[in-house]
Amino acid sequence: MAKIIAIYGSPRRDGNSAALLKQAVAGARQEGAEVEEVILRDYKISPCLEIYACIKNGECAIRDDFPEILAKLEASTGIMLASPIFFYSVSAHTKIFMDRCQSLWVRKYWIENQVFGAAPELRKGLFISVGATSGKKLFDGAILTVKYFFDVLSAGLWKTVLCRGVDRKGEIERKDDYLRESFEAGRELAKVLREEERKKGSR
Ligand SMILES: Cc1cc2nc3c(=O)[nH]c(=O)nc-3n(C[C@H](O)[C@H](O)[C@H](O)COP(=O)(O)O)c2cc1C
Repeated sequence: MAKIIAIYGSPRRDGNSAALLKQAVAGARQEGAEVEEVILRDYKISPCLEIYACIKNGECAIRDDFPEILAKLEASTGIMLASPIFFYSVSAHTKIFMDRCQSLWVRKYWIENQVFGAAPELRKGLFISVGATSGKKLFDGAILTVKYFFDVLSAGLWKTVLCRGVDRKGEIERKDDYLRESFEAGRELAKVLREEERKKGSR
């Protein structure tokens, strides 16, 4: 069974990006995946303090809720991340979490070339984002950030769902096409992971 983590990166509860991610979660569950939902604003996570204690063994020295999420992330082959666009990047909650994963980067590139997580050859990431404006480059900054974040998690940026022109809470409900697109992306992610796991098992 495909295991997927769904990370809600907005500080706003049940906001626009959350509504899209909920659809992706529902789609993945319909396809039989086990999905663990993580709402970042409910966790106490310090920003990276750049003390590099992780150079010793790849483990972050800050004692907070970060390891709890890391364990869920490690056990998942699918990663669904949703963040609104804040100043042409991801939200602060999302970025703080990403920066704490520098300890994994250190483990991967400085210590022992150790790749992260279960079945690294299968890992895939879905990025969902929303923004208020309609600019052509609205998602460019966030996509670059997410791509390199997923790389640390041994996952490729498999698919994006990017919705422009939603600002106030609930505006996403008018965007039926994006809600559907998210549901389908979740369903497809679960399906692809399941099929690849099956192929790997029969090798
Ligand atoms: C701090 C902050 C910065 C924002 N920066 C941008 C921006 O650069 N471009 C944009 O189009 N919308 C921006 N927005 C609007 C949000 O992206 C938009 O309201 C979005 O729908 C919020 O999604 P959420 O409900 O998932 O939090 C910003 C909102 C906030 C609160």
